[in-house]
Amino acid sequence: MDTEVLRGDDPRSLVRAVELLVRGSLVAFPTETVYGLGADARSERGVRAIFEAKGRPDTNPLIVHVRSLEAARSIAYVSLRAERLAEAFWPGPVTMVLESRGVLPSLVTAGGPTVALRCPRHPAARALLLAFGGPIAAPSANRSGGISPTSAEDVVTELGGRVPLVLDGGPCAVGIESTVIDLVGPSTILRPGTIPASEIARALEEPVGWGSETAGPERSPGRLGRHYAPTASVVVGGTPPNGAAILRRGGGERNERVFELPDEPSGFARELYSALRRADRLGVDVIWIEPVPQGEAWDGVRDRLRRASLRE
Ligand code: TXA
Ligand code: MG
Repeated sequence: MDTEVLRGDDPRSLVRAVELLVRGSLVAFPTETVYGLGADARSERGVRAIFEAKGRPDTNPLIVHVRSLEAARSIAYVSLRAERLAEAFWPGPVTMVLESRGVLPSLVTAGGPTVALRCPRHPAARALLLAFGGPIAAPSANRSGGISPTSAEDVVTELGGRVPLVLDGGPCAVGIESTVIDLVGPSTILRPGTIPASEIARALEEPVGWGSETAGPERSPGRLGRHYAPTASVVVGGTPPNGAAILRRGGGERNERVFELPDEPSGFARELYSALRRADRLGVDVIWIEPVPQGEAWDGVRDRLRRASLRE
């Protein structure tokens, strides 16, 4: 299969994308967080194609992208808490796990009673959702276990030959995946993103808990073990080993093995995955990363660094 890359802001690209989705085929598209690998969430065939292209285990449920809270209501039971979060953060990088109405193929939710919903903010994602008119299931557009793509070129690196169309919407503004919040029981953050927990609690008007990786069943498989990992081993903190590629904050001396990332959390998140990819392409054994500060603004970044550094 050839992979075509088309501008996401061209109406002709959208026509092509909708044709593919209607047929139960795949379209990779930009969101503000990372690029997604999309299919018609109502199409068994389309959803199956996502799992095949990614090499993703079918025990790992997908995020369904919707154009509005109204569209979410036809897929899930939207609680008052969900309305509050949508009011505060949609469209944007927040995914809510809600009680499913059971109208989508069970593969989308890995056979479970809940469904993860997100309304993205990227104009090309919004235009695609509007033009298509239905929900789009889309995990990050990488091979399972790889780094999420933050540009159209990264999608081609990950999935070239496995997806017929990539909509190019430029580099992602957020750069790490959305915050995933389970609203079925007590509000629980399953995966931190760039929105601090305190802001989520304020919008919910109640405290939020943290999903534990060890306790209970696999509620959010994205929280399990090594994920978002490059080929080199990743070491956070301590002394940089000789010959390592280095990712660090702020200024100072730099050479071809040193990647400098902005010294504030949103800039760091925006550039992290592309820096990891470039460092990995050097063929080094180790990528050493400077630890990031304490404090909730860095929670999402800290989570991704921890996962990237977990050994298989
Ligand atoms: O920013 C994002 O969220 C990107 C863009 C493309 O929207 N998507 C993304 O999808 O990161 P994915 O599939 O790579 O991660 C989805 C996360 C996983 O941790 C998955 O296990 C969790 O959401 N998830 C999906 N459905 C769930 C459910 N019903 N209950 C709990 N967790 C769920
Ligand atoms: Mg992913």
